[in-house]
Formats: sequence, structure tokens, C-alpha cells
Amino acid sequence: MSAPQVKVRTGVPGFDSVISGGFRRGKTIVLSGPPGSGKTTFGMQFLYFGAKDFDEPGIFVTLSQSPDEIKNDFKSFGWDVQKLFDDGKMIIIDARPFKMEDGFIALDESLYRGESLPFMHLTQLILSSIKRIGAKRLVIDSLTVLGMQYTNSFYTRRGLQGMVHTLEDQQCTSLLVSEENKTDKTPFEWHVVSGIVLLHHVRKEDTMERAIQVIKMRGTKHSEQIFPIKLTESGLQIIHPRIVP
Ligand SMILES: Nc1ncnc2c1ncn2[C@@H]1O[C@H](COP(=O)(O)OP(=O)(O)OP(=O)(O)O)[C@@H](O)[C@H]1O
Ligand SMILES: [Mg+2]
Repeated sequence: MSAPQVKVRTGVPGFDSVISGGFRRGKTIVLSGPPGSGKTTFGMQFLYFGAKDFDEPGIFVTLSQSPDEIKNDFKSFGWDVQKLFDDGKMIIIDARPFKMEDGFIALDESLYRGESLPFMHLTQLILSSIKRIGAKRLVIDSLTVLGMQYTNSFYTRRGLQGMVHTLEDQQCTSLLVSEENKTDKTPFEWHVVSGIVLLHHVRKEDTMERAIQVIKMRGTKHSEQIFPIKLTESGLQIIHPRIVP
């Protein structure tokens, strides 16, 4: 008989029941959606409640917003992250492909240039950070910007597979944020990862409505329903009479 699966609680009230109790430990999940749909918020919530309530240290890898902006966003939801940073339970890796130099913007390709395998340097940096703080959770925001650092999609897919394999090997449950795909072509990362969660933000009459949907979650029984979701000053939360937070 196989060992029971360890479930990783997401920190998003209501969402764990949609995926039979949480993500599977060590698996990698793509979180995709349009601008402002709550991808970064979901990622921050996953890390904050993981570190605070489940003693699972976390790493936020940013490729777009600055670390200061991310910290301020955490605080805007009333999530007191400073203690977690001070106690080494959460860290931010600044993986933006540019830097400020004497007040000017300059390219910083130190993490991406001269690699025999895409993602290699970043994966090594993540691995040493996982070992340093004993991280059990990781968010990359975003995979779309990361993938744009490479031109050859064959090698990029191979590099991503290497990164996902490394994270699984460390039993680090990971969310890869990705921008909404509006083409007919399935993004290659959808095949590489274990799970796909979509966030929707669509117009309904004179307002915008938010929703969440699970496209796949390998090895997990999950709902096929699209659930309304709220993004308030306390973060994301599923709104459904039958779903208990
Ligand atoms: N403190 C807050 N209280 C309530 N709602 C907030 C708060 N902070 C942000 N929001 C809402 O969250 C939205 C941004 O969410 P988030 O940054 O998670 O989206 P995203 O999907 O990551 O967007 P992008 O693709 O631009 O990175 C804002 O447009 C706003 O509606
Ligand atoms: Mg974002």
C-alpha cells in the first residue's frame, strides 16, 4: 500500500476543499490569469500562511516587482511579514533581469547568461536558499518573465523540467505564476507541471467578477466547477455556500 499523501494547505479560505485538502507536497503548480486577477496575492498568501500557521518557510522569487514593493503589498493585506523575514522563515530573491546603476536602468543578466541549461543559475540559487532556511514553499513571479530571458523554446522546456525536478526532489511545493495565455497554443509549462489553477477577472454588466478554476491537479480528485472568489483587504477567499474556509 502506498504512503498517504501529505497535503499542503494553500492559505486561501475555501480553496483546499476544491482540491481534496490542499496541494500535494513537493509538487509544482502553475497559477495563471489576466492582470490584476490576484496571482501575486495568491502567491503571497500561500507563503505567508505557510510560514505563520504551518511552520513551512517560504521563498518569493520576483522577476517584476521590487522586493520593497512586495513587502509593502504583504503589509497592505495586514500580513505582518517582518517577523517572518527577521526569523528567516521567509526570503525574497530578486531575480529581475535589470538593475539600477547610478540612477539609470541597466541590464543584469548575471543569472541568465552563459548557461548550458536555461534556469541553471537561478535553480542553483533557489536550491542554496531552500537549504539555508529549510524552505518548504516557493513562488516564482513570474515564469512568463523568466521564460522571456531565453530564445530557444526546446532548451527552455528542458531547463524548466530540470528546475521542477530539483524542487520536487527538495519536497518544496511551488507556485509558478504565469500570465494569461490568449492564444490557441497550450503553454509548454502546462505539460511540465503537476497542477494548473486559473484565476479569472471578467466583466459582468457594469462590474468585474473574479473566479478560480482548477484545470488539472495530478493525483488529486478536484472539482470541475468555476468558483466565485473575492479579493479583499484580507486577501483571496472562495465564496460558495457549500465550501467551508
Ligand atoms: N490591500 C488590498 N486590499 C484589497 N484589494 C487589494 C489590495 N491590494 C491589491 N488588491 C486588489 O488586487 C489587485 C492586484 O492583485 P495582484 O497583484 O495579486 O494581481 P496579479 O494577477 O498579480 O496582477 P499582475 O498580472 O498585474 O501582476 C488590485 O488590482 C486590487 O484589485
Ligand atoms: Mg502580479
